[in-house]
Amino acid sequence: MAEVAYVSASRVYQGSPPVRAVDQLDLDIADGEFLVLVGPSGSGKSTALRMLAGLEDVDEGRITIGGADVTHAPPKNRDIAMVFQSYALYPHMTVAENMGFALKLRKTPKAVIRQKVAEAARMLDLEKYLDRKPRALSGGQRQRVAMGRAIVREPSVFLMDEPLSNLDAKLRVETRANIAALQKRLGTTTIYVTHDQVEAMTMGHRVAVLKDGVLQQCASPRELYENPANAFVAGFIGSPAMNLKTVPVSGEGAVLDGTTIPLPREAMAAVGDLKEVTFGVRPEALSLTSAESGGLAMTVELVEELGADALIHGAIEVGGSQERFVVRADGRTPPALGQRVTVALRDPSEVHLFHPKTGVRLAA
Ligand SMILES: Nc1ncnc2c1ncn2[C@@H]1O[C@H](COP(=O)(O)OP(=O)(O)OP(=O)(O)O)[C@@H](O)[C@H]1O
Ligand SMILES: [Mg+2]
Repeated sequence: MAEVAYVSASRVYQGSPPVRAVDQLDLDIADGEFLVLVGPSGSGKSTALRMLAGLEDVDEGRITIGGADVTHAPPKNRDIAMVFQSYALYPHMTVAENMGFALKLRKTPKAVIRQKVAEAARMLDLEKYLDRKPRALSGGQRQRVAMGRAIVREPSVFLMDEPLSNLDAKLRVETRANIAALQKRLGTTTIYVTHDQVEAMTMGHRVAVLKDGVLQQCASPRELYENPANAFVAGFIGSPAMNLKTVPVSGEGAVLDGTTIPLPREAMAAVGDLKEVTFGVRPEALSLTSAESGGLAMTVELVEELGADALIHGAIEVGGSQERFVVRADGRTPPALGQRVTVALRDPSEVHLFHPKTGVRLAA
């Protein structure tokens, strides 16, 4: 087991212009932590993981594992095990042989290999399949063999790059719970890459959000959700996404539908003399009310019924144009398409404000 640190680590692909696939990454991962790297396609997640594995050069900065500088160490000297999206199982070997292969290469005694494979198979519920070839397994079973192969090596760090993306939706949910439980039991430092923010939020002790190779924020799931550091994180984390609109500001607050939504004084202080601000509010922080109680007028354009809840999409006037908002409402009495409804903000403290140009969070 070990802690991991990226110290201003960059990977720059030469070309014109050069691509800074990972740009000055600073990240400390504690011993035993489950850290998730999340971000859109092309944001540098796999590159960051491969730099740690030694499969990709580190062009600037350095990387340490367990306090030792491994920036230029060959992969085999890093004491890590990686689980890929394509499980990369050997088709001609049985499940047991696949799982024990790394130990065999290390010339581990046969009896020890047998015992470690049996132990991992028990943890992963693979005991029945040890003599089968990978082609005779389901996708979920193959995924578990790939995990087993990493576990028997007893590395100090597990690296996983979208290990669930070949599974169907139901199996993904099951398997992610199993991986989280297994990691907890083994206590092995784990870095897990996904582009799925729900997966990131449900699995990670902390989640690091990347965009264009740059770390945007690294925090607990709750902290990311409640205090996103910028408008990108605010829009990326959460499903359905936060409503984020650039709105005019008056003396006391933000102006939507010709109404000033009063904002806390410290928020207004942070806004300073900006003429507009990026205003963010999550769908569940809005509600439908009666016209008499006052609020913002919205015309319903789409209703997504989810069962307990319904997502109401509609247009609200902002700065002279109609902007799309989503409200999470009671699923039992959804409004009709085209209906005029009134939308209220549950609590002014649930408003997030960001700089309209830089996207940086303005107030706590
Ligand atoms: N060999 C290469 N030469 C030049 N650019 C590259 C090379 N490999 C990757 N890149 C670029 O580096 C950036 C980061 O790629 P990376 O594979 O790390 O993204 P990712 O976040 O894992 O994306 P995905 O979710 O699609 O897997 C991308 O813009 C990609 O085009
Ligand atoms: Mg990738």
